[in-house]
Amino acid sequence: MSYAQPLERVAIDLGDRSYDILIGEQLLDAPSTWAHLPKAAAALIVTNGTVGPIYAERLRAAIAPRYPAVHTVVLPDGENHKDWQTLNLIFDTLLGHGADRKTVLFALGGGVVGDMTGFAAACYMRGVPFVQVATTLLAQVDSSVGGKTAINHPIGKNMIGAFYQPQRVVCDLDTLQTLPQREMSAGLAEVIKYGPIADMPFLDWLDDHLDALMARDPKALAHAVKRSCEIKAWVVSQDEREGGLRAILNFGHTFGHAIEAGLGFGEWLHGEAVGCGMVMASHLSQRLGLVDEAFVSRFTALIERAGLPVVGPKLGAEEYLHHMRVDKKAEAGEIKFVLIDKPGTAIVRGAPDALVAQVIDDCCEK
Ligand code: NAD
Ligand code: GLY
Repeated sequence: MSYAQPLERVAIDLGDRSYDILIGEQLLDAPSTWAHLPKAAAALIVTNGTVGPIYAERLRAAIAPRYPAVHTVVLPDGENHKDWQTLNLIFDTLLGHGADRKTVLFALGGGVVGDMTGFAAACYMRGVPFVQVATTLLAQVDSSVGGKTAINHPIGKNMIGAFYQPQRVVCDLDTLQTLPQREMSAGLAEVIKYGPIADMPFLDWLDDHLDALMARDPKALAHAVKRSCEIKAWVVSQDEREGGLRAILNFGHTFGHAIEAGLGFGEWLHGEAVGCGMVMASHLSQRLGLVDEAFVSRFTALIERAGLPVVGPKLGAEEYLHHMRVDKKAEAGEIKFVLIDKPGTAIVRGAPDALVAQVIDDCCEK
């Protein structure tokens, strides 16, 4: 059997924490995908009850030549399980197998599995290596890259976590073929995000290739994943721990997190909330005189074409503002928004509550 080489390799340049993102087809089974990873007596595949039955055995077989013992833990699926109780299942499994401090964790799944596995890897015996095997579009273009790991707290999303970089990120585009369409749309939100904050020609390309992406055309997917990872790599390499620039990657997330928290985690998908949140942030940018109406209309139309909601849920302005005040970007209670300065560049700044409330009224269900 012959295996494809990665179509693309994007480097994250972080000194001694540098690593590669491999992007291509047939990567899961190819021995070269797993070459040069840290050696250890054991590996632990962390997956969930949806992804595990489809891909865990293939991953186990592919990494078995490197690791004398390969264990698997299957977590319950869903954002509402991104919590301490579920995280503990990973520690229970590691300790139950007497796993030592060289054990390599493999996150096989989307952003929920990836964020939890990364956090477990950061904590177990004060840090063990881990690899992101990203199986959703959202994970391939965003969550698996850059070392943000976390679980949710009932009061706020991703509130408990650590910056902890993986050894490698593997984006096998074939795995996207089994993804439900709603999850494809959610991933497209994070792809589209990169246009207005960093690369308007990429937004033009997305306008032209959205139908191909929705139909999961491998060439279109390869370009979208690669360009997204390049932009994320460029940002993270300059500002790993979000002292400034990295915050632009949270475009749409301030409104989006309020939607997720307000409705209860898991009601809307994270990417759906981000998609709608970006529309709301664009409106706020327009009200502040930063972009014109034509940009907001064009951007909203693209979000809608991607199958994402463009009208926010009716939570009321007070509830939105309440949730936005516990956003990690908030400083001394002041909500910070990622806004489009001019198309292709983003800024982080506050806005008067009254103006934000108007945007919420305009953009949400009546
Ligand atoms: P997810 O991990 O919940 O996956 C979505 C659904 O698709 C799940 O039901 C999952 O089991 C299923 N699935 C995954 N791969 C599949 C496949 N190949 N075939 C069929 N089904 C598959 O959601 P997500 O959208 O991947 O990630 C969202 C999470 O990522 C959120 O918790 C968010 O906070 C986090 N996130 C983190 C970062 C970061 O920088 N760390 C960035 C963005 C988002
Ligand atoms: N998804 C935002 C970040 O990685 O910073």
